[in-house]
Amino acid sequence: MRKGEKGILLGIVVILAVFILINDYRKSNDDTPDKGIPFFSTATAEIQSKAEMLIGQLDCRDCHSLWGFRNIMQSVPSPALDGIGSIRTKVWIYDYLSAPDPKLILPSRLKPEYQMPSYAYLPDKDRKLLAEYLAGLKVEDWYLEEAKKREYEKLTGKNYADRNEHE
Ligand code: HEC
Repeated sequence: MRKGEKGILLGIVVILAVFILINDYRKSNDDTPDKGIPFFSTATAEIQSKAEMLIGQLDCRDCHSLWGFRNIMQSVPSPALDGIGSIRTKVWIYDYLSAPDPKLILPSRLKPEYQMPSYAYLPDKDRKLLAEYLAGLKVEDWYLEEAKKREYEKLTGKNYADRNEHE
Protein backbone atom coordinates (compact mmCIF):
# COMPACT_ATOMS: atom_id res chain seq x y z
CA MET A 1 0.00 0.00 0.00
CA ARG A 2 1.34 3.44 -0.92
CA LYS A 3 1.68 6.26 1.54
CA GLY A 4 -1.16 8.26 -0.02
CA GLU A 5 -3.55 5.30 0.06
CA LYS A 6 -2.77 4.70 3.72
CA GLY A 7 -3.64 8.31 4.42
CA ILE A 8 -6.99 8.03 2.66
CA LEU A 9 -7.82 4.78 4.48
CA LEU A 10 -6.91 6.31 7.83
CA GLY A 11 -9.03 9.34 6.95
CA ILE A 12 -12.04 7.13 6.27
CA VAL A 13 -11.56 5.22 9.52
CA VAL A 14 -11.32 8.46 11.50
CA ILE A 15 -14.42 9.92 9.84
CA LEU A 16 -16.36 6.72 10.56
CA ALA A 17 -15.24 6.67 14.18
CA VAL A 18 -16.22 10.31 14.68
CA PHE A 19 -19.58 9.66 13.05
CA ILE A 20 -20.28 6.69 15.36
CA LEU A 21 -19.24 8.69 18.42
CA ILE A 22 -21.45 11.65 17.51
CA ASN A 23 -24.36 9.34 16.88
CA ASP A 24 -23.93 7.61 20.25
CA TYR A 25 -23.64 10.97 21.95
CA ARG A 26 -26.83 12.21 20.32
CA LYS A 27 -28.70 9.07 21.33
CA SER A 28 -27.64 9.31 24.98
CA ASN A 29 -28.58 13.00 25.18
CA ASP A 30 -31.91 12.88 23.42
CA ASP A 31 -34.66 13.76 25.90
CA THR A 32 -37.48 13.17 23.44
CA PRO A 33 -36.67 9.90 21.71
CA ASP A 34 -39.20 8.36 19.37
CA LYS A 35 -41.04 6.13 21.82
CA GLY A 36 -43.14 4.39 19.20
CA ILE A 37 -46.77 3.29 19.44
CA PRO A 38 -48.02 3.57 23.05
CA PHE A 39 -50.79 0.96 22.74
CA PHE A 40 -50.49 -2.76 23.32
CA SER A 41 -52.69 -5.76 24.05
CA THR A 42 -52.24 -8.37 26.76
CA ALA A 43 -54.81 -10.71 25.18
CA THR A 44 -53.91 -14.17 23.95
CA ALA A 45 -54.00 -14.72 20.19
CA GLU A 46 -57.21 -16.74 20.60
CA ILE A 47 -59.08 -14.02 22.51
CA GLN A 48 -57.75 -11.37 20.17
CA SER A 49 -58.98 -13.13 17.02
CA LYS A 50 -62.41 -14.07 18.45
CA ALA A 51 -62.98 -10.59 19.88
CA GLU A 52 -61.81 -8.82 16.72
CA MET A 53 -64.24 -10.95 14.70
CA LEU A 54 -67.11 -9.95 16.99
CA ILE A 55 -66.07 -6.29 16.90
CA GLY A 56 -66.13 -6.49 13.11
CA GLN A 57 -69.58 -8.13 13.03
CA LEU A 58 -71.02 -5.60 15.48
CA ASP A 59 -69.49 -2.60 13.66
CA CYS A 60 -67.94 -1.09 16.78
CA ARG A 61 -65.57 0.75 14.41
CA ASP A 62 -68.51 2.71 12.99
CA CYS A 63 -68.06 4.85 16.09
CA HIS A 64 -64.78 3.88 17.76
CA SER A 65 -61.25 3.72 16.54
CA LEU A 66 -59.29 0.63 17.54
CA TRP A 67 -55.66 0.05 16.61
CA GLY A 68 -56.02 3.44 14.97
CA PHE A 69 -58.67 2.25 12.53
CA ARG A 70 -62.31 3.21 12.26
CA ASN A 71 -64.99 3.55 9.61
CA ILE A 72 -64.07 6.74 7.76
CA MET A 73 -67.68 7.14 6.54
CA GLN A 74 -68.88 7.73 10.12
CA SER A 75 -68.09 10.71 12.29
CA VAL A 76 -69.42 9.95 15.77
CA PRO A 77 -67.12 11.66 18.30
CA SER A 78 -66.64 8.59 20.53
CA PRO A 79 -63.62 7.84 22.70
CA ALA A 80 -61.03 5.55 21.12
CA LEU A 81 -60.90 1.97 22.42
CA ASP A 82 -57.10 1.89 22.21
CA GLY A 83 -55.74 1.92 25.76
CA ILE A 84 -59.24 1.64 27.28
CA GLY A 85 -58.05 -1.19 29.57
CA SER A 86 -55.75 1.25 31.37
CA ILE A 87 -58.74 3.51 32.11
CA ARG A 88 -61.58 1.02 32.77
CA THR A 89 -61.63 -2.39 34.47
CA LYS A 90 -62.93 -5.63 33.00
CA VAL A 91 -65.90 -5.59 35.40
CA TRP A 92 -66.76 -2.02 34.46
CA ILE A 93 -66.68 -2.80 30.73
CA TYR A 94 -68.74 -5.98 31.22
CA ASP A 95 -71.37 -4.06 33.22
CA TYR A 96 -71.41 -1.27 30.64
CA LEU A 97 -71.92 -3.67 27.73
CA SER A 98 -74.61 -5.50 29.73
CA ALA A 99 -76.55 -2.39 30.73
CA PRO A 100 -79.99 -2.01 29.13
CA ASP A 101 -79.33 1.75 29.20
CA PRO A 102 -75.56 2.42 29.07
CA LYS A 103 -75.95 6.17 29.62
CA LEU A 104 -77.05 5.49 33.20
CA ILE A 105 -73.46 4.27 33.73
CA LEU A 106 -71.72 6.76 31.46
CA PRO A 107 -73.70 9.92 30.64
CA SER A 108 -73.79 10.93 26.99
CA ARG A 109 -73.65 14.38 25.46
CA LEU A 110 -74.67 13.10 22.03
CA LYS A 111 -77.87 12.70 20.03
CA PRO A 112 -79.53 9.31 20.69
CA GLU A 113 -78.46 7.85 17.32
CA TYR A 114 -74.79 8.51 18.14
CA GLN A 115 -74.87 7.21 21.69
CA MET A 116 -73.34 3.93 22.79
CA PRO A 117 -75.95 1.24 21.99
CA SER A 118 -76.93 -1.39 24.53
CA TYR A 119 -75.36 -4.79 23.96
CA ALA A 120 -77.39 -6.44 26.72
CA TYR A 121 -78.97 -8.65 24.02
CA LEU A 122 -75.66 -10.36 23.26
CA PRO A 123 -75.01 -13.82 24.73
CA ASP A 124 -73.21 -13.53 28.05
CA LYS A 125 -70.10 -15.26 26.65
CA ASP A 126 -69.78 -12.57 23.95
CA ARG A 127 -70.01 -9.73 26.47
CA LYS A 128 -67.44 -11.52 28.65
CA LEU A 129 -65.14 -11.98 25.67
CA LEU A 130 -65.40 -8.31 24.67
CA ALA A 131 -64.79 -7.19 28.26
CA GLU A 132 -61.78 -9.49 28.56
CA TYR A 133 -60.28 -8.24 25.30
CA LEU A 134 -60.98 -4.54 25.87
CA ALA A 135 -59.64 -4.68 29.44
CA GLY A 136 -56.38 -6.01 27.99
CA LEU A 137 -55.99 -3.05 25.61
CA LYS A 138 -53.38 -1.10 27.54
CA VAL A 139 -51.46 2.11 27.10
CA GLU A 140 -47.82 2.67 28.11
CA ASP A 141 -47.41 4.78 31.27
CA TRP A 142 -45.81 7.67 29.39
CA TYR A 143 -49.00 8.07 27.29
CA LEU A 144 -51.61 7.37 30.00
CA GLU A 145 -52.29 11.02 30.87
CA GLU A 146 -52.69 11.87 27.17
CA ALA A 147 -55.07 8.91 26.69
CA LYS A 148 -57.15 10.08 29.68
CA LYS A 149 -57.21 13.61 28.32
CA ARG A 150 -58.45 12.44 24.92
CA GLU A 151 -61.08 10.20 26.48
CA TYR A 152 -62.33 12.99 28.76
CA GLU A 153 -62.54 15.51 25.92
CA LYS A 154 -64.43 13.06 23.68
CA LEU A 155 -66.87 12.16 26.44
CA THR A 156 -67.58 15.66 27.68
CA GLY A 157 -66.66 17.96 24.79
CA LYS A 158 -64.84 20.02 27.44
CA ASN A 159 -61.21 20.94 27.90
CA TYR A 160 -59.30 18.48 30.14
CA ALA A 161 -57.35 21.35 31.72
CA ASP A 162 -60.62 22.96 32.91
CA ARG A 163 -61.97 19.80 34.48
CA ASN A 164 -63.35 19.63 37.97
CA GLU A 165 -61.25 17.33 40.18
CA HIS A 166 -64.43 15.53 41.27
CA GLU A 167 -65.44 14.54 37.74
C1 HEC B 1 -73.46 4.32 17.34
C2 HEC B 1 -72.08 4.50 17.78
C3 HEC B 1 -71.44 3.42 18.64
C4 HEC B 1 -71.28 2.07 18.39
C5 HEC B 1 -71.76 1.28 17.17
C6 HEC B 1 -70.52 1.54 19.51
N1 HEC B 1 -70.24 2.53 20.41
FE1 HEC B 1 -69.20 2.31 22.13
N2 HEC B 1 -69.55 4.27 22.61
C7 HEC B 1 -70.16 5.18 21.75
C8 HEC B 1 -70.19 6.48 22.40
C9 HEC B 1 -70.72 7.76 21.78
C10 HEC B 1 -69.58 6.31 23.67
C11 HEC B 1 -69.42 7.38 24.77
C12 HEC B 1 -70.67 7.42 25.62
C13 HEC B 1 -71.86 8.00 24.87
O1 HEC B 1 -71.81 9.20 24.48
O2 HEC B 1 -72.84 7.26 24.65
C14 HEC B 1 -69.19 4.91 23.74
C15 HEC B 1 -68.54 4.35 24.83
C16 HEC B 1 -67.96 3.08 24.82
C17 HEC B 1 -67.12 2.56 25.86
C18 HEC B 1 -66.68 3.31 27.11
C19 HEC B 1 -65.54 4.21 26.70
C20 HEC B 1 -64.97 5.02 27.83
O3 HEC B 1 -64.36 6.04 27.54
O4 HEC B 1 -65.11 4.61 28.98
C21 HEC B 1 -66.76 1.30 25.49
C22 HEC B 1 -65.87 0.35 26.26
C23 HEC B 1 -67.40 1.03 24.23
N3 HEC B 1 -68.13 2.14 23.85
C24 HEC B 1 -67.28 -0.17 23.54
C25 HEC B 1 -67.97 -0.44 22.37
C26 HEC B 1 -67.98 -1.74 21.73
C27 HEC B 1 -67.19 -2.95 22.20
C28 HEC B 1 -68.79 -1.64 20.64
C29 HEC B 1 -69.19 -2.72 19.68
C30 HEC B 1 -69.71 -3.93 20.28
C31 HEC B 1 -69.30 -0.27 20.60
N4 HEC B 1 -68.78 0.42 21.65
C32 HEC B 1 -70.14 0.23 19.63
C33 HEC B 1 -70.68 4.94 20.50
C34 HEC B 1 -70.77 3.70 19.92
